[in-house]
Amino acid sequence: MQTAPCAACHGQDGATGLDGTYPALAGQNERYLLRHLKMIQSGARNIPLMAGQLNGKTEQDLADLAAYYASLPGKLGQAQGDDASIARATALYRGGNLEKKVPACSACHSPTGGGNAPAGFPRVSGQSVEYTVAQLTAYREGVRKTDDDYGGMMRGAAAALNDTEIKALADYLLGVH
Ligand code: HEC
Ligand code: HEC
Repeated sequence: MQTAPCAACHGQDGATGLDGTYPALAGQNERYLLRHLKMIQSGARNIPLMAGQLNGKTEQDLADLAAYYASLPGKLGQAQGDDASIARATALYRGGNLEKKVPACSACHSPTGGGNAPAGFPRVSGQSVEYTVAQLTAYREGVRKTDDDYGGMMRGAAAALNDTEIKALADYLLGVH
């Protein structure tokens, strides 16, 4: 299996991207990874930087890549926000916000941020802050639609989040475990 081209952007360890816009893949759930590799290959998830990267790869190749990155140990970072910001993010992540109809993230992504591997819900802990901010914003704006086969549940979860909450959540997720 050829992972050198991937490592150029996602890091040798699969967890150290060129910069914060490159997601960590190490320790991500296998089912989620395979679904996304297929969507990136077909163009259903448009990642211009990855154009051509998956050309000619068979379903087995993609499955091997997913299994490989899922098997690598995930890395964690350290939240940088102040205590108040981390407390707000923790409350939102674990309990949601009934008034704003934000569901508890932990119900699907687990209290430790590990996701739900059998269900294909991604791990969100240790993920680059910039990447997470970009994804939550893209779901909120309806630009990222890769949750179609899950009934749009992430667009729903992100719909009422404001920019401050998205930043606080992304910062918190970097270190949650
Ligand atoms: C030129 C840089 C580049 C290369 C090479 C590259 N990627 Fe990516 N990859 C990206 C970027 C940038 C994103 C995030 C795009 C976005 O913000 O939606 C990404 C996203 C992904 C995702 C989605 C992660 C998630 O959490 O949803 C997977 C899976 C992935 N890449 C796997 C691979 C694999 C496997 C290879 C090698 C075959 C590879 N990438 C090669 C830049 C690259
Ligand atoms: C009902 C279940 C559910 C809830 C609640 C939920 N999520 Fe998700 N989340 C998902 C699923 C399923 C996906 C994958 C969808 C896809 O493939 O685009 C996802 C994807 C994500 C991603 C993108 C991961 C990546 O690697 O690209 C982030 C970040 C995320 N969720 C954060 C959150 C946060 C923060 C909350 C709480 C505000 C939340 N989620 C609430 C099910 C949920």
